[in-house]
Amino acid sequence: MKILVQGGTIVTATDKYEGDVLIDGTAIHSIGTSLSGPVDKTIDAKGKLVIPGGIDVHTHLDMPFGGTSSVDDFQTGTIAAAFGGTTTVVDFAIQEHGGTMRQAYETWMGKAEGKAAIDYGFHMILREHTPALEKEMGAMVDEGITSFKLFMAYPGVFYMDDAGIFRYMQRSGEVGSTISMHAENGIVIDVLIEQALRKGCKEPKYHALTRPPRAEAEATHRAICLAEMANVPVYIVHLSAAEALREVARARSRGIDVFAETCPQYLFLSYDNYEEPNFEGAKYVMSPPLRDKAKQKDLWHGLRQNDLQAISTDHCPFCFNDNEGKLLGKDDFSKIPNGAPGIETRMSLTYDGGVRTGNISLNRWVELTSTSPAKLFGMFPKKGTIAPGSDADIVIFDENAETTLSAASLHMNVDYTPYEGRRVRGVTETVLSRGEVIVENGSFQGRPGRGEFIRRAGRHSPTS
Ligand code: URP
Ligand code: ZN
Ligand code: ZN
Repeated sequence: MKILVQGGTIVTATDKYEGDVLIDGTAIHSIGTSLSGPVDKTIDAKGKLVIPGGIDVHTHLDMPFGGTSSVDDFQTGTIAAAFGGTTTVVDFAIQEHGGTMRQAYETWMGKAEGKAAIDYGFHMILREHTPALEKEMGAMVDEGITSFKLFMAYPGVFYMDDAGIFRYMQRSGEVGSTISMHAENGIVIDVLIEQALRKGCKEPKYHALTRPPRAEAEATHRAICLAEMANVPVYIVHLSAAEALREVARARSRGIDVFAETCPQYLFLSYDNYEEPNFEGAKYVMSPPLRDKAKQKDLWHGLRQNDLQAISTDHCPFCFNDNEGKLLGKDDFSKIPNGAPGIETRMSLTYDGGVRTGNISLNRWVELTSTSPAKLFGMFPKKGTIAPGSDADIVIFDENAETTLSAASLHMNVDYTPYEGRRVRGVTETVLSRGEVIVENGSFQGRPGRGEFIRRAGRHSPTS
């Protein structure tokens, strides 16, 4: 199948020009002006942006957590992602206590195969440290799982002590993988939670008040120091606090290889949301929590200055009006499942609130939402750019179209969006994934199960 995307404004991390993109099969064949020849389909992109498909390197689809499970599976979640202009996700497989990573890999493959509508990769969450798991990291890298997430938070659930973290970092250096870190001091946070509950502080806002910015900054600092001693890079996930960003910026200015992502929720929502009445604050319970509105400008500054290299979503949806969802914590904030939906709204939110407001340039937007995540996680140049030979993952994005974000019209399998009623300008119109039109005219044209597993390159691989 040959498709010509004609007359659009092609935008990559570095360029912006009018042109045509010829797709042959699953890949981009050529780019030029006035391309012609026999094609099976022509898409008129005049007046629209033609950008590489969004890459979301932080999602939790069908994830057991907090005694329940995130409500988007690989089918609903990836279809919603596609509607929002995302054509690749990297989700988190979870090694179970006493289990192997191979088992986790197979479990997550079982969740994704036959369901994913876009391409997907996996990071591996390690819940404990053992010499056997340390050894198994090499086998995972061979499978294309080239990043491992460790937690300094959630004692008794995911928490790992510094010795385990340090050993895994050292091993990561040997196998050429990346360590991603959930950087919050979970030990101190648990003390604060216990003290708050003892005082009868039960409402959602105490989730944020017991997870202070300094707990994130301290853990970020420690993660960086551990990585520096192990002589490996570290990637800080879902960075929310300006205080933590300062630790990243300081380390980077010393020449340390620390990378970090933030998420739209930290750029557009704030602590004030926790004060919403009638338990509505539970909608925003996630870790790390939302911070002061006044600090959002620091995150934008970090995105511009390249102290933050990616915007991902940490999509981890739980329904609000559901006894298996947010209502689990009706009488105790610490039982509210952590996480919020966002896989579908990332591109529009960051275009509207980032590019249109002048917080970031158009090229930087593409870089943060696609190119840089592809590079950091071993998928570039197959993914993350528009160039001959790259996968034809292409989004036609209408800069001038407006929409009102609402759970009723979004496609995520969850009963709310944190952005209900928010008007955004900049809307995904058409989406191609490996040369196949999967979203067009407001409808899903793809097929669940068409998504392919991405064997990502490691830092030692010749292609990375
Ligand atoms: O609240 C969050 N972030 N839930 C998802 C799990 C995680 O820590 O990323
Ligand atoms: Zn996390
Ligand atoms: Zn997460």
